[in-house]
Amino acid sequence: MSAIDARPAPTGLDPPRFPSALRFGVATAAFQIEGAVHEDGRGESIWDRFCRVPGAVAGGDTGDVACDHYHRWEADLDLMAAMGIESYRFSIAWPRVQPDGRGPANAAGLDFYRRLCEGLLERGIEPIATLYHWDLPQALQDGGGWGARDTAERFADYAAIVAGELGDAVSQWITHNEPWVVAFLGHALGIKAPGMRHWPTALRASHHLLLSHGLAVDALRASLGELAQVGIALNLQPARPATASGADRAAARRMDGFLNRWFLDPLLRGHYPADMLDLYEGFYGPADSIRDGDLDVVSRPIDFLGVNYYNPHRVAAAPRELPLSLSLTQVTSPTTAMGWEIDPSGLRDVLLRLRREYPPLPVYITENGAAFEDPPVNGGPVEDPERTDYLRGHLAAVAEAIEDGADVRRYCVWSLLDNFEWEAGYGQRFGIVHVDYDTLKRTPKASYTWLRDALRARG
Ligand code: FCB
Repeated sequence: MSAIDARPAPTGLDPPRFPSALRFGVATAAFQIEGAVHEDGRGESIWDRFCRVPGAVAGGDTGDVACDHYHRWEADLDLMAAMGIESYRFSIAWPRVQPDGRGPANAAGLDFYRRLCEGLLERGIEPIATLYHWDLPQALQDGGGWGARDTAERFADYAAIVAGELGDAVSQWITHNEPWVVAFLGHALGIKAPGMRHWPTALRASHHLLLSHGLAVDALRASLGELAQVGIALNLQPARPATASGADRAAARRMDGFLNRWFLDPLLRGHYPADMLDLYEGFYGPADSIRDGDLDVVSRPIDFLGVNYYNPHRVAAAPRELPLSLSLTQVTSPTTAMGWEIDPSGLRDVLLRLRREYPPLPVYITENGAAFEDPPVNGGPVEDPERTDYLRGHLAAVAEAIEDGADVRRYCVWSLLDNFEWEAGYGQRFGIVHVDYDTLKRTPKASYTWLRDALRARG
């Protein structure tokens, strides 16, 4: 982030601070929990394909069974209800709705989400539906995927289908989850599906993802009018210079442009950041995927901004690492099992930066949580004090940001269940509920119980 807040990191309070305007929830994503990849007419997704690439996913893990949520969803909703949460953020698998990414809807696939939404409403839990959490139909990838403009149009068709079917049950909509990850980790660094390493395609993909967001906003509004609350979930991370040197500060500014401003500026200000456009054009030529009128679509008014926050970055200049000429420095301070620095003040900085630099917009924290090496299940609850500490610290940071004027309306823990953590497979556990991957048994962790008790105490 451009300005670094010099105040000390927020300290955890016990019990957690749940500001009264904040609805509390949990988040999941279809491919990470559902399994049942061949059922009820679901088509192949790019993640089904990517999991088959030797060496792409740790342990050769796949999403074939995952948490078997497709069959166990009622018990999972009961776990949420027993915890007392108010919102549930889940994602809809595009290949269940349109197996090839185009054409008529697959009724059986939609039925699953209708049952899920009705089950949530019966339990008094608000559904927050994400249309795209990374599982592109493979057939669309075969036609160019997000590198092709046509995929943006197909996404709008898919959004219209889902709105028509679920619009009476869902009022909170998220178009995309973390388009930065899709565009750049999927197409430039190749560590996520579809596993490409081609910067020009990644840049095109980033624009088509943003365009598809705007087209989907239009489709949702055309179908649902003002009833629909629509937003997008971005992964936002402070980019902190590794040292006070001018070179490292400039590198941090580039990292901020790459990660944060490349998405925030077109969505909320209607233009790409000039410094990043110049930088990319210098390497790859004019950004000809950006056509006249596109930015008007990308910047359609939205009702909230979703923020996924895990950690800040420490950035150093690295002249040979093109095109960004930067590297991320390893931190030794407390980290999660993913190696991610634990720093709740980064969340506060993100929230206050949004308030300071962008037009006023309610914020939903759509993901926040941590993976740790939890002890084995031994009959009792799984003791995970580090996760509880992580959540407590970050909730305190949210409370502080709200006190300083941030307009935060939702907070969703990532994640309800241990699940398929993308290229890390099942080795990284983010759940507040433990999943035994042999028996699929769910066992609440101590963090679940702590949150449940705190929600009860809040009333
Ligand atoms: C985010 C993803 C989510 C999960 C967490 C740990 O980037 O949106 O699916 O994998 O990271």
